[in-house]
Amino acid sequence: MFMSKIIVLIGAPGAGKGTQARLLEAKLQIPQISTGDMFREIQNSDTALAREVKEILASGKLVPDNVTFEMVKERTSREDCGGSYILDGFPRTPRQAEMLEELASDQGKVISTILIDVPFEKLEERLTGRRSCPECGEIYNIHYKKPKVDGFCDDHPQAMLKHRADDTEDKVKVRLETYEENTKPLLKYYEDSGRLQKVDGTRRPDEIYRELENLIATNNVTA
Ligand code: AP5
Repeated sequence: MFMSKIIVLIGAPGAGKGTQARLLEAKLQIPQISTGDMFREIQNSDTALAREVKEILASGKLVPDNVTFEMVKERTSREDCGGSYILDGFPRTPRQAEMLEELASDQGKVISTILIDVPFEKLEERLTGRRSCPECGEIYNIHYKKPKVDGFCDDHPQAMLKHRADDTEDKVKVRLETYEENTKPLLKYYEDSGRLQKVDGTRRPDEIYRELENLIATNNVTA
C-alpha cells in the first residue's frame, strides 16, 4: 500500500536545506515546513512567547522541544499537508525525533530522512554571505547567488534584502556547536533504522536538487 511521506531534510546550518526545500516545493508541489521561518515570523509579534523566541534565536540555541513540536503539529494538521510534505529544520534533538515518530504514526505517514552533507569549514562563508527577501523569502548569497541588482530581490525590486541577525561569525559558531551536540546524534538514529540517505551538499544547488528529486522519485513520494 502506498503511504505518504514526511521528507526530513537534515543538515548543519547553511547546508542548503532551505534552498532545496523551496525548490522541491515549487517543482514537486509538496509543501515545505521550515521551523526556522516559522520562529522568525513569531518573533515579530508582541507576546511573551515572541520575546522568548527572539532571545533564543539571537543566541543560536534551540527553542524548547515542546514549543517547537506543538507548532509543527498544528502546521502539519492543515489541509495542504494531507499528502507528503517536507520538513526543513525539524527534528533537531532526539526528543523531537521521538515526537515526530508519534506524529507520523498518527498521520499514517512514513519518515524518510535526507542529509545534505557539507563540511563545517564551508558553512561560515555561506551563512555570513546569506541575504533573504523579506517579501518572498528567496535566498541569495553575496558570493554564490547574487541578485541581479545588488541588495534587492529579483522578483521584488522594492524589497531590500535582509541579513539574518544570527548569521554573524559569533552566532554561527554557537549554531554549529548546537548542531554538533544536539542534531548530529540523529544521523545515527536514522541510519540505524535504514531511513537515512545522503547527498553531497558541496556541489552546485541545481546538481544537488537533481539528486534529491531522483531520491524522492525512487521513494515513490507523491504529493
Ligand atoms: P533555521 O532557520 O532552521 O536555521 P539553520 O538550521 O541554522 O539553517 P539555515 O536556515 O541557516 O541554513 P540552510 O541549511 O537552510 O541553508 P540555506 O539554504 O539558507 O533555524 C534558525 C533558528 O530557529 C535556530 O538556530 C533555532 O534557534 C530555531 N529553530 C529552528 N528549528 C528548530 C527546532 N526544530 N528546534 C528548536 N529550535 C529551532 O543556504 C545558506 C546560504 O548558502 C544561502 O546564502 C544560500 O544561497 C547558500 N547556498 C545554499 N546552497 C548552496 C550551494 N550548494 N553552494 C553554495 N552556496 C549555497
